Amino acid sequence: MPVAVVVGMQWGDEGKGKIIDLFAENVDVVARYQGGHNAGHTICFGETEFVLHLIPSGIFHKGKLCVIGNGVVVDPMALQDEMRQLEEVNIELEGRLVISDRANIIMPYHGVSDQGREKGDGKFQKIGTTGRGIGPSYADKIARTGIRTCDLRDEKFLRSRLEANHEEKSLVLKSLYGKELSELDALYSDLMVFREVVLKYLDDTHVLMNNLISRDKKILCEGAQGTMLDVDHGTYPFVTSSNSSAGGACTGLGIPPTKIDRVLGVMKAYTTRVGEGPFPTELFDKDGEQLGKVGHEFGATTGRPRRCGWFDAMVARYAIKINGIEALILTKIDVLDGFKTIKVCTGYKFEGKVYADMPADPKVLESCEPVYTEHEGWMQKTAGIRDFDELPQKAKDYVKHLSDLLETPFLIVSTGPDREDTIELGRLFNS
Ligand code: GDP
Ligand code: IMO
Ligand code: MG
Repeated sequence: MPVAVVVGMQWGDEGKGKIIDLFAENVDVVARYQGGHNAGHTICFGETEFVLHLIPSGIFHKGKLCVIGNGVVVDPMALQDEMRQLEEVNIELEGRLVISDRANIIMPYHGVSDQGREKGDGKFQKIGTTGRGIGPSYADKIARTGIRTCDLRDEKFLRSRLEANHEEKSLVLKSLYGKELSELDALYSDLMVFREVVLKYLDDTHVLMNNLISRDKKILCEGAQGTMLDVDHGTYPFVTSSNSSAGGACTGLGIPPTKIDRVLGVMKAYTTRVGEGPFPTELFDKDGEQLGKVGHEFGATTGRPRRCGWFDAMVARYAIKINGIEALILTKIDVLDGFKTIKVCTGYKFEGKVYADMPADPKVLESCEPVYTEHEGWMQKTAGIRDFDELPQKAKDYVKHLSDLLETPFLIVSTGPDREDTIELGRLFNS
């Protein structure tokens, strides 16, 4: 039953793309279970650097099956663009890419509504979304008014779904944001173009996944975003609109919980966040600047600068609990190479109380004071090191300290963006 889930443990951009691409070599299937083209998963090997938004991060490994699950929201334009870009670099998609016929489609009105809400002159809570229509599309899914990929098979049904939505969305967009929605026929004809491209990739992915499981195929479920952006467990309302935590792999792919046997968590050696919302260890000083500069902390999807701060063990401990993580992957340790002192947050202090568990109250998260331990930096290059023994002693101590603090072993320590810049301490699957 070799099914593993890889989740982000912080606020996204932990380096999941790099790690999933690395693991993909030794699995049969990589399957995305939630999110949409808000994700940006960077993959680097040799001269190639590619940012994937929707297509699973196993696509650069020949012969591996890549599945977009029912839990993903699919933007037709973004998917077609990404498919074209991959074809331009000679990546074969036919026979390798499968898209769930139960996935919800992001329509242009979702993007308009997302951006409208974000610019709402203080009327609405600004989240700092990617503006890609993710929230409004998931909202329609839950409201049972969404258009799904299987609807593309039935033109009459599709048209009637679209008509009902068009009427409602035209009114809402006009009255709330003063925006005119495109004509119904234009929306419909774009869907018809998408239909031509995508029909051959659609399949009943719960059947596929369960067949693959019964044939003992090795499956890697790819999470997007991170635990702290999970709609249930993250820093609500400053979250995305799906379950990015490990539970999402079951609902987003139709895999029963009893069939998942490994959950691995990816975390940066420090913390970043894009968009609004609480971030207890955020730095506004030269250390923060250095993390951003050395770590090239700009969003892979929107290009926005990422907010930077020290490693937060409160966040990591919480992610371990929520996801059931039994092995850790540490990325970007090389970004800490030039720091004389490195801090790690072990608790939050608020109104005289030190919290040991993640508080739900945004007020506490906004105003708490992080409790730090300090570590002497190694002030030597770790970038590109591939053998744990070659790390400077103080870098080894930092890794050991995190592992002790989190009571969880490390499987990988990543020392650079390239596939090869990796210290492997264990295997994804033992057989
Ligand atoms: P994802 O969304 O979790 O896949 O992460 P992103 O791709 O958005 O952001 C991670 C960034 O860090 C990318 O630019 C990666 O190429 C880069 N990266 C990944 N691992 C490492 C590492 O160990 N060291 C350094 N310096 N960069 C890394
Ligand atoms: P990957 O998979 C980092 C953030 C946005 C915003 C919030 C809600 O690359 O780690 P949304 O557009 O989803 O409604 O925005 O979530 N966000 C991400 N931050 N990495 C991501 O994905 C993100 N996807 C969404 O910045 O704060
Ligand atoms: Mg990213």
